[in-house]
Amino acid sequence: MPRALRNILVTGGCGFIGSNFIRHSLFQDNFSGKIINLDALTYAGNPENLEDYQNDPRYVFVQGSIENAQLVDRLFDTYDIDTVINFAAESHVDRSIHGPAQFMQTNVMGTFTLLETARKFWAERNDTLFLHISTDEVYGSLGSSGYFTEATAYDPRSPYSASKASSDHVARAYYHTYGLPITLTNCSNNYGPYQFPEKLVPLMILNMLEKKYLPVYGDGKNVRDWLYVQDHVLAIWTVLEQGALGECYNVGGDNEWSNIGLIETLCDVVARETDQKSSELKNLIHFVKDRPGHDQRYAIDCQKIKHNLGWKQTVSFTEGLQKTVHWYLHNMDWVKRVQSGEYQNWIQLNYQNR
Ligand code: NAD
Ligand code: DAU
Repeated sequence: MPRALRNILVTGGCGFIGSNFIRHSLFQDNFSGKIINLDALTYAGNPENLEDYQNDPRYVFVQGSIENAQLVDRLFDTYDIDTVINFAAESHVDRSIHGPAQFMQTNVMGTFTLLETARKFWAERNDTLFLHISTDEVYGSLGSSGYFTEATAYDPRSPYSASKASSDHVARAYYHTYGLPITLTNCSNNYGPYQFPEKLVPLMILNMLEKKYLPVYGDGKNVRDWLYVQDHVLAIWTVLEQGALGECYNVGGDNEWSNIGLIETLCDVVARETDQKSSELKNLIHFVKDRPGHDQRYAIDCQKIKHNLGWKQTVSFTEGLQKTVHWYLHNMDWVKRVQSGEYQNWIQLNYQNR
């Protein structure tokens, strides 16, 4: 029997994956639970991503930090939270290199605060679940062969991945020590609608549209495994409904690309969609100084979630890139508001009289 989903505290629901997750959940008429979205609205949080759902009685938005123990306590109490999905994080590796402190605060201390509150409120319950959303970056860097499995030892290299690895360890410790019902997912690189344009795919698409240089770090031969965000969302639903407590599940696309290979493919897609010459877009490629500690290759073995829970990817890379380019081309107002910083006024404009 799939686990019933009732009062879900989603943290970081205004970010890229969180907003796609909430959109997917509320889009389903048969979802009768409630989603309480706790988001601090950092630069990466954009409540406009969920504008269509503002008046949905199943949806509550609360601006605040997962580090605020009093606030988290109040939300557990008021909404009788039985499920937590912890998306909230500082998520960009480059930013973690320039300013690691906020990564430790949010990703480690914020997760700790949520776990502590769940432990307090759920001591007498057996119908609860804390799903911690993590990344394949905790496993470190691969050479030209091999895959990360759930048994691969953690070996994080960047302040971002070290902070995520720490939070994964704390979550696991709460399972073993206190019996808190925890599951984890470790996913590869996502792409798709609503991704903040500092990440590779949207940055490249928007630079191509503006005829700006396409900055490729190092020699462009680093490899990532790409998954369309909707498939990550489906994996999260699958783990929520059927995941075994105390287990972690790797999620990936079986879809390895070198950065340069991906960027050249993206040039072809953007050229087709905008009626331009792909060769002219490729001329914008510009090799720049490498990211310090740049992990060489990530590749995920996701047989466990496939075999044990029946999840599989549904969107091919060709289709996913096309959908993504299409989405950015048709949402240039969103892009402009994000690029100008105007999206950060959304909350004042829409919530000031509530
Ligand atoms: P994102 O940067 O787009 O969104 C993060 C969200 O968290 C934002 O809405 C932000 O406002 C919010 N947030 C930040 N600090 C907060 C705090 N203290 N309290 C409450 N909210 C806070 O990130 P994303 O790409 O959507 O990633 C979501 C999660 O998935 C992260 O935990 C990330 O580590 C993980 N992940 C991401 C990817 C990827 O490719 N993007 C892949 C695997 C795992
Ligand atoms: O693997 C999962 C991770 O994927 C998530 O945990 C992170 O939250 C997410 O940001 C992502 O991390 P990456 O560092 O892999 O993503 P990013 O888009 O920053 O970079 C992807 C690759 O492209 C990486 O090898 C660095 C390279 N790159 C990136 C940018 C922004 C470039 O060559 N040029 C760029 O301008």
